[in-house]
Amino acid sequence: MRPTIGPFPVTRLRRTRRTPGLRALVAENTLSVGDLIWPVFVRSGDNIEEPIPSMPGVVRRSVDRVVEAAREAADLGIPAICLFPYTDAAGRTADCAEAWNPDNLSNRATRAIKSAVPQIAVMTDVALDPYSDTGHDGFVRNGDIVNDETVEALVKQALAQAEAGVDIIGPSDMMDGRIGAIRTALEDAGHNDIVLLSYAAKYASAFYGPFRDAVGASGALKGDKRTYQMDAANADEAMRLIERDLSEGADMVMVKPGMPYLDICRRAKDMFGAPTLAYQVSGEYAMIMAAAQNGWIDGDRAMAESLMAFKRAGCDGILTYFAPAMARLLSA
Ligand code: PBG
Repeated sequence: MRPTIGPFPVTRLRRTRRTPGLRALVAENTLSVGDLIWPVFVRSGDNIEEPIPSMPGVVRRSVDRVVEAAREAADLGIPAICLFPYTDAAGRTADCAEAWNPDNLSNRATRAIKSAVPQIAVMTDVALDPYSDTGHDGFVRNGDIVNDETVEALVKQALAQAEAGVDIIGPSDMMDGRIGAIRTALEDAGHNDIVLLSYAAKYASAFYGPFRDAVGASGALKGDKRTYQMDAANADEAMRLIERDLSEGADMVMVKPGMPYLDICRRAKDMFGAPTLAYQVSGEYAMIMAAAQNGWIDGDRAMAESLMAFKRAGCDGILTYFAPAMARLLSA
């Protein structure tokens, strides 16, 4: 069903662009604060906010400061906050046992937020990389990232997060079969209502660089993640991954990174109609901030335009380090 386009001058498409009011009237998409999830970095200590040089404006916060950040986010109307722990070298071991420690940083932060700011949804990351001495998302055996043994550990990690009270669990590890295994374990343990947000189409990307600085994994990572994260050349494979994860019990699916993969977002939304999110990752944030700090682009406008692009591509929500800045701009 195509609208009829008359010949010029019967049709002048500029008519509906003439004033802000007319433009608002014909806007096909809207970006609102309810679309945003804010990723935050958690570190040990008290009363600490430590800058991350490759992510201007982003800090690692001690748990007490994360609670304050959660309160600020809730006051802005941001519906969810996503926790990423920074683990120092001592917390990174071959057995990754810290990942399912009920009192690890992520679980302590979850409990603290849920008791002080219960209205904000807490999301956590399932993957072994913050706790592994190799920086990989799974166990390494003879140089290979082993799948099935890793899935058993991911299940333990997810159960510990569930016990701590998270609302959304986001497996970002890209092992096969982990969504089904985690879903079954959650159901068996009586955690029937936890949302599984699968990082279903996660690409092996250069755009994760600043994140790895932020969580202390840059120095640790040996090799790359190409045997489990996707090849940038592939799009059909992303649809197979998303279909597989939805069938195993994912409630929402994610495409990651965001801006270079908007075609994947659109195809996923059109094909499955499931809640579809994108992660505007650290490198995307860093690029916009670096250009803005140099005066090369208008940072606020680039932020807003980039986030609207996700909505236009069919995304229901966006994980973005811009969440509080965008929320403030939207309410200005
Ligand atoms: C790791 C994980 C990564 C990100 C989120 N979870 C990095 C990676 O896969 O190496 C990247 C997020 C970002 O770059 O902002 N499981």
